[in-house]
Amino acid sequence: MVDLKIVPITPRRIHNHTFPVAYHLSGPASQSDVEQLLKAKSEEGFFNSVLKEHGAIVLRLGNPDPAVLSTYIKIIGKGSGDSPFQQIGSTAQRTQITDILTNANESSPELEIFQHNEFSRFNRYPTKLYFACSKYEVTKSDGGEGKDGPNGADHPHSSVQTIGQTPLVHGRELFDALQQKVPLLITELSKRGLYMEQVWKYETDDHTGWTDKYSFGRDILEGDSLEQKKKKAEPLIAEYVSKDFHWDPSTNDLIVGEHTQPLRTYENESESYGVSFNSIPTFYAGMKYKKNSYGKTRSISYDDGGEISEYYLDTILETSRELEYNHEWEEGDIVIVDNYQVSHGRKPWKGVKKVLVSMWDKPSKAKFEGWTKVVQYLGMRDAPLDVC
Ligand SMILES: [Fe+2]
Repeated sequence: MVDLKIVPITPRRIHNHTFPVAYHLSGPASQSDVEQLLKAKSEEGFFNSVLKEHGAIVLRLGNPDPAVLSTYIKIIGKGSGDSPFQQIGSTAQRTQITDILTNANESSPELEIFQHNEFSRFNRYPTKLYFACSKYEVTKSDGGEGKDGPNGADHPHSSVQTIGQTPLVHGRELFDALQQKVPLLITELSKRGLYMEQVWKYETDDHTGWTDKYSFGRDILEGDSLEQKKKKAEPLIAEYVSKDFHWDPSTNDLIVGEHTQPLRTYENESESYGVSFNSIPTFYAGMKYKKNSYGKTRSISYDDGGEISEYYLDTILETSRELEYNHEWEEGDIVIVDNYQVSHGRKPWKGVKKVLVSMWDKPSKAKFEGWTKVVQYLGMRDAPLDVC
């Protein structure tokens, strides 16, 4: 009988665990053989336990048909005891492909998207993400960033070839690296929390306004008045995103204050450790380079209103880039990500690449607590004096 066999990729190593771990089929198999295998594996808890240990799983099952990918994901999701997560408050344009698969972020292929844990700045976030590649015909060319930096702005790194990789960062590794580099920042973020302010426009031409289906327009009907639209959106905003919101009286744009814990405690069997769980790299890069997806974030600070220094924000962004595992796609790949432990982004590309996404949640999940083991660093400074 066919089984899953480890594929030798080049992963990172984090606390003696490979990140990610990749599998392909041990031999030729029909679609129904693969379905039976995935059902048995998921029901015995294989994907749940491998995901906890490794943070991300690559499945190279060889079939890029979106309908088949969708079936495989549904079998794994349901067999693992999860339910589809309803996307509410999306800031990116999405198109529904199957009942559980949408296109991933549809912004321009030239745009680099930096690290974020999906919906981590909201009240509700999925536990698992499935990315699936249905088409991959990209042109291999050099960097594209060079000294001009990502998205045409000044940036010190020249990146890997821009072939649309999905960069993943393990939140434990990022947390540990920041604790080494800037321990006071860990203390400050833990104690003071994070504030981000986001704007959803009333009217846009790219389907990312607040009335869009994947934002807050799920119940809005054609012909609804502006007041009716607001009344339908408001409970969704409060429940899924934040209770702190208001409408701009002149533009009817939606302005949301998001109050979150950007560092959390991950409970992993007998072990518990700190993980980075936020969207700081994505949204700080958007503000820094002035060219991020849809430019919705307009402020980042501690939750008490205090400024997070540029030095700290740059350190988070740069460190997240240093720790990337860049997944190079093959058609038919499914990448399963533990959204609590691992953040993701997107590299630019030229050509055709279709990566679909499905979000899943664990019913009655435990609260994802903030990191509270705060250390006092008496007399210690994180940054050179001139930038503190
Ligand atoms: Fe995302």
